[in-house]
Amino acid sequence: MSHDDYPTDDPAVVTCGLPYANGDLHIGHLRTYVSGDVTSRALRKLGQETAFVSGSDMHGTPVAVNAEEEGVTPREFALRHHEKYEETFPKFNVEFDNYGHTDDETNTELTRDIVRTLDEEGYVYEKEIKVAWDPIEDEPLPDRYVEGTCPYCGAKARGDECDEGCGRHLEPGEIEDPHSIRTGNPAEYRDREHRFFRVSELQEYLQGFIDRLEGTSNARNQPREWIEGELQDWCITRDMDWGIDYPDSDASEGHRDGDGEAVDEDADDLVLYVWVDAPIEYIASTKQYTERVGPGEYDWEQVWREEGEIIHIIGRDIIQHHTVFWPAMLHVAGYNEPRAVVASGFVNLNGKGFSTSRNRAVWADDYLAEGFHPDLVRYYLTTTGGFQQDVDFSWDRFQERVNGELVGAVGNFAYRSLLFAARNFDGTPDAGVSDEVRERIEEAVDEFRAAVNDYSLKRLGEAATALAAFGNEYIQRNEPWKLTDDDPERAAQVIRDCVQIAKALAVLLAPVLPGKADELWSQLGEDGSVHDVAVEAALEAPPADFGEPSELFEKIEDERVEELNENLQERIEAATADEEKADDEDEDMSEDIEPIDDERIGFEEFQDLDLRVARIEDAEPIEGADDLVKLTVDVGVEQRQIVAGIKQLHDLDDLPGTKIVVVANLEKAELFGTESNGMLLAAGEQADLLTTYGDAEPGTKIK
Ligand code: 2FM
Ligand code: ZN
Repeated sequence: MSHDDYPTDDPAVVTCGLPYANGDLHIGHLRTYVSGDVTSRALRKLGQETAFVSGSDMHGTPVAVNAEEEGVTPREFALRHHEKYEETFPKFNVEFDNYGHTDDETNTELTRDIVRTLDEEGYVYEKEIKVAWDPIEDEPLPDRYVEGTCPYCGAKARGDECDEGCGRHLEPGEIEDPHSIRTGNPAEYRDREHRFFRVSELQEYLQGFIDRLEGTSNARNQPREWIEGELQDWCITRDMDWGIDYPDSDASEGHRDGDGEAVDEDADDLVLYVWVDAPIEYIASTKQYTERVGPGEYDWEQVWREEGEIIHIIGRDIIQHHTVFWPAMLHVAGYNEPRAVVASGFVNLNGKGFSTSRNRAVWADDYLAEGFHPDLVRYYLTTTGGFQQDVDFSWDRFQERVNGELVGAVGNFAYRSLLFAARNFDGTPDAGVSDEVRERIEEAVDEFRAAVNDYSLKRLGEAATALAAFGNEYIQRNEPWKLTDDDPERAAQVIRDCVQIAKALAVLLAPVLPGKADELWSQLGEDGSVHDVAVEAALEAPPADFGEPSELFEKIEDERVEELNENLQERIEAATADEEKADDEDEDMSEDIEPIDDERIGFEEFQDLDLRVARIEDAEPIEGADDLVKLTVDVGVEQRQIVAGIKQLHDLDDLPGTKIVVVANLEKAELFGTESNGMLLAAGEQADLLTTYGDAEPGTKIK
């Protein structure tokens, strides 16, 4: 089923993954929130009725562990961070219509209500399972209270997620070699009664859901493996005090266990797993918004229960929760399913991950204290790479992009055009927009629409910056400064065009640069805010009068970057020293890399391999095969068909044009009924494709 293009007749809700209320925000965290804000503003520009909501994730062990370290109650700890987040997001122009938290009454009630429904619908059962326990302290070790080894990939993992390895959600009792993070004591497994949600019965529904799902290809492809494999039921309770109590309900009397036997249950001492009540906050937060503005303005029930466009913006580490558990809960509880899950890559700092605990981060507060405008980092985070790609942050690259694209292209064009217009015409010259410029603006508007419908913020930003580059080229080519005396009419025409381009830039840049776009809007003499107009305003005439503008952006000088780098370097060095120390203590780390084979081969044996550069021409999924893709590749002398197991790992649309390395003389094979004539080379679990560094043409032999 394909969805209607935005804007649709139904209301939309854009949500951002809830941040755990457990620490300071750094600019890596901001990527999801800025992306959500840009998406909601862009949808509104297209005329889509939209609410933008999120909230703080207050429960679970991520909060409890940190609160305990600080010696305060989890509620006090989480509320403090929640208030701080509430204050910080608007400083980055991230303006939620509602920002709630999971511990408030709305979410607590809604969560209990939804869990009761799951229960009443027969989707919850009780089962005795083994949970990690500290035998010396005699206490349960749920989720992050326990660490050990992932049973799927062997990486070091937390109790409920393989955060450093394969990224899977881990059920209680699955982690191997468990030990307590509080005491270091080896954990044992004890039998406890817990509640399970019968996700395994929803396989067919989830397969259909994934087929309908829009968003980034990682969110649409990765879950297939989980859904089409052995879908496990999901433990939805924990032995903890901090969280939402498992609800009492008539239906919870006389539960059936996994085998259908009646069980004597007492859920009093169990709280719901944090991943149950966290996404429900998406609904609760929307409900609070309606309670504030009234259902005539925005109706939460329509979007969540009748017809609506639910768009989740998340980090790629929580795809499984949003594409398996969450739609399963929504479906059984009678709510609408998400239309799109848009999962972004991570942000690295100078090539390595941010590390909150090791202070290797550019903190949100520090960024603002440096005096940088929030729109600059918004621009960087949303347009540096595709949504799914990891983005590397460095002050050098930040400077390069700000000075090149914002100061050089956008700011320079707007300033020179409006200054010329103000000085020579007191505002917009009295002339019509030329066909060339009108068509170019229309093209940018079309690209903006397409980018929104494709959930591509990079393309959204580029629609505007490419228009600015055109504007600079246009003004340079037409040299109005040479025309004012000899051909004033022509000068008026050129500047009229430029003012229109500047107005279009304000409109198109509004989602990514909300503050700067509004500044440009005022410089054009426009009333109100650029955020109140639709994208069509890009082609409407600007006011006749406006005064001299000021520069929109300030160049970042080299000395400033040197200073920023020095400060950061000092911190990174301190962090690296800490990491090395930690690595020495952690002997398991080197086990991630396979040892090199002792058995050597001769050069002749290597020469037997005919390795060639090839270029992918086409990539199609093989129907019915979980991982397989049929590639048509150009190997110089001919086109070949190669079958590769990379379906879940790459966006097939991105592959054509990519150069790869293939073993060209491998025996032909048949995989899933499809002939494979060669093999592509790729590294590691993520099938990182081998490519060439320079311009080697397809067919070039690799020696
Ligand atoms: O992984 C996290 O940071 C979670 N706090 C995200 C929750 S998103 C949602 F489902 F609520
Ligand atoms: Zn793993």
